[in-house]
Order: sequence, then C-alpha cells, then structure tokens
Amino acid sequence: MKICIINGPNLQLLGKRETAIYGKSSLNDLKNTLIEKSKTHNKNINLDFFQSNHEGEIVDKLAEIFNKKYDGIIINPAAFTHTSVAVYDALKAVDIPAVEVHLSNIHNREEFRKRSLTAGACKGQICGFGVKGYELALEALLEII
Ligand code: DQA
Repeated sequence: MKICIINGPNLQLLGKRETAIYGKSSLNDLKNTLIEKSKTHNKNINLDFFQSNHEGEIVDKLAEIFNKKYDGIIINPAAFTHTSVAVYDALKAVDIPAVEVHLSNIHNREEFRKRSLTAGACKGQICGFGVKGYELALEALLEII
C-alpha cells in the first residue's frame, strides 16, 4: 500500500518556525513518527514524503501520484490551503482518497485561514492536533482504503 505525504510551503522549517503554534518537532521527526506508526499496522505500508515551497511542484507531484497509482494522500498544503485552485483541481483530478492536515487549528486563528479551498477535494480535514494529526490522518486513510 502506497501513501504519499505532501507538505507545502514553509513546512521545511517545522520545529524552528513559530514553535508556539506549530510545535517543536521537525519535518524529519514527523517523518520518523509516521514511519513508526505505519509499522504498527501489518499492511506493508510504503510512505513517500514530499515537501515543496512551490505550488506548481505540488501540482506536478499530484500528477505523478496519479500515474504511479498511490492508494492514499495525506496533504498539508500550508498557505496554499487558502489560495490554491490549482492544488484543489489536482486533488480532484487524481481521485485518490486524500486527508488534509493542519498542525494548528486554522479555525481559531486569523480570518483568512478559516477558509480551505483544498479541503473540498479531500475526504476530510484534521486540524489542531500538531504532528498527531498526521498519525490520525494515516488511521483515517487505512479505514477508507
Ligand atoms: C498550516 C496552517 C496554514 O494556515 C499555514 O499557512 C501553514 C501551516 C498548519 O499546518 O497549521 O503554513 O497548514
């Protein structure tokens, strides 16, 4: 089973960036946590991690996912959540179950963060639980797939 984890802009700075909001775990910590979590399931789960600060690269990655026949997507589009019709369209196009994750609770922050364009192309959204949200997303995907 192949699952792709996509992280958007500025998430390479996780653990250093606004730690009061996003926590102290790095992107690498997140990766290791998810790998460990995947091993607790006897399902031969293959995780592919991708991070980009560029909208087009995320769209390209989603197209690649389509071609390589992944089973599920966990995506934190970061700032593109609130702006990107292109990422929304790409998620719709691939038509593979996706779960949107946000480390912070986007609903109790600035007004502009409350609207997610991309969540409408996902099975659901998990936000406000930090790195744990990615683990919950993996659980949700395994239920769906
Ligand atoms: C974020 C929330 C977004 O509003 C923000 O632009 C991010 C991170 C989160 O994980 O909480 O970069 O997606």
